[in-house]
Amino acid sequence: MKRLIAFSAAPILAVAVFAAAANADPIADRQALMKDQGRAIGSIAPIAKGEKPFDAATVMTALKKLNDDAQKLDPATLFPAGSDTGDTTAAPKIWEDNAAFVAAVDKYKADTAAAVAADPKDLESFKTAFNQVTQNCGTCHQAFRVKKN
Ligand code: HEC
Repeated sequence: MKRLIAFSAAPILAVAVFAAAANADPIADRQALMKDQGRAIGSIAPIAKGEKPFDAATVMTALKKLNDDAQKLDPATLFPAGSDTGDTTAAPKIWEDNAAFVAAVDKYKADTAAAVAADPKDLESFKTAFNQVTQNCGTCHQAFRVKKN
């Protein structure tokens, strides 16, 4: 029995170590977060375009998910100095003009929080919230992302 406990503790330890080292790869972490946001947007974009009927619950789930992800966007830990090289499309401007990047992140966080607070109950109010949130994606990508060759 003792041995069994020792054995089963090993993977738990491994998980704990992994969690502590999670930010060892900030590029992978921020890209995963961005992809997750992409999925949330993808689930409600067809509603904004009128391709799918408005559904308040679906919309709210996606907006909450998006806001949760946005609030996790911490420039200091996800975009630390030195993480501008490697498999990344992050533009040097993030570090050259960090104040502007932090401001863009803060605006995005405020807009996703406002979209959740708006709690859209019809297509029109949803579209307003959707546009408010998604303009951040394009604006930030244009300013702070480079195209991969
Ligand atoms: C404040 C700036 C900012 C905002 C706002 C932002 N992004 Fe990004 N996004 C970035 C940066 C910088 C990268 C490049 C990350 C890298 O490659 O290291 C990126 C990369 C991505 C990627 C590619 C991830 C990968 O695997 O390479 C996707 C998808 C993405 N963003 C989706 C979104 C969506 C959808 C939104 C809006 C809902 C959004 N982003 C809002 C800055 C932003």
